[in-house]
Amino acid sequence: MGPCDLESILAKIPEETSPELVTSIRAGEDAGVFMLDEDLALVQTVDFFTPIVDDPYLFGQIAAANALSDLYAMGARPLTAMNIVAFPCSLGLDVLERILLGGQEKVHEAGAVILGGHTIEDEEPKYGLAVTGFVKPSDMTKITGARKGDYLVLTKPVGTGILATALKGEFITEDGMSEAIESMCALNGEAARVFSKHGINACTDVTGFALVGHLYEMVRASGAAAEIWAVEVPLLENALKMANMGMIPEGKKLIEDFVPKAQVQADNIDAAVMDCLYDPQTSGGLLASVPAGDVEDIVRDLRDGPCPRAAVIGTITEEEPGSLTILAARRE
Ligand code: CO
Ligand code: CO
Repeated sequence: MGPCDLESILAKIPEETSPELVTSIRAGEDAGVFMLDEDLALVQTVDFFTPIVDDPYLFGQIAAANALSDLYAMGARPLTAMNIVAFPCSLGLDVLERILLGGQEKVHEAGAVILGGHTIEDEEPKYGLAVTGFVKPSDMTKITGARKGDYLVLTKPVGTGILATALKGEFITEDGMSEAIESMCALNGEAARVFSKHGINACTDVTGFALVGHLYEMVRASGAAAEIWAVEVPLLENALKMANMGMIPEGKKLIEDFVPKAQVQADNIDAAVMDCLYDPQTSGGLLASVPAGDVEDIVRDLRDGPCPRAAVIGTITEEEPGSLTILAARRE
């Protein structure tokens, strides 16, 4: 479902007001945070979707990495997970076994355990997880803290939606999108550790609302504005080529509806590059707003460690709050 429809429905549901709740669904935080006591908060999130690759084991891994990502975006450590499965038995139970094995391996890699789950029969397979973790409130990375002068750091290249669309249309094979598959399978946990070691001002993960949509949520929630340098945004291998061939996921239109046109100034950017910036991601990277004094150390630690393609993609500016400027390149 698109972000606009979701926002209008949520607006009609009475807001939860429990005093232990730290995050509001409406602020666009990645996960729900519930204070257990002064020093410890419970963090919960859930995500599931239809297969994005043909290999069931890799689909399980991607779904689990994607579900865990919202915890990492908030600086939380995952503890437990529950499987959510919809499956047509006609597909063969060995396929479901491979999906669940892939998911379990990722959950274990994250240092968490699977407690159980729920399965229903459905025509279209779907898999995901509800995950629970914890965070010290002082270590929590919220979406609301971006400050003027910060730099924007993105930990993974974008283009998974375009490549998955090309795979569905058989314009590319899984071999041709191996970088994307590896990237979607990769946990954001190590990147989150780098961020928490140095301290950052705001964080979210780039998933279904694309880089532009998630950055828009961050600046809107922070009362700030941002500038993106298109040439600095890392793109997955073959993403630009497939965008040029018209492999554009339907979700792109929903993001264009969500981010008001008046809020986006795009300065002469190649159409296929814009497609990548508006490309809904699965298991995308973390997007952090980083104090200027730490950005060099953070990017070095990310590149030498878990995120070889991490990049500084822009900055937080003092333009009108909630506005985005997309420049071809960094100003001299
Ligand atoms: Co998220
Ligand atoms: Co999510």
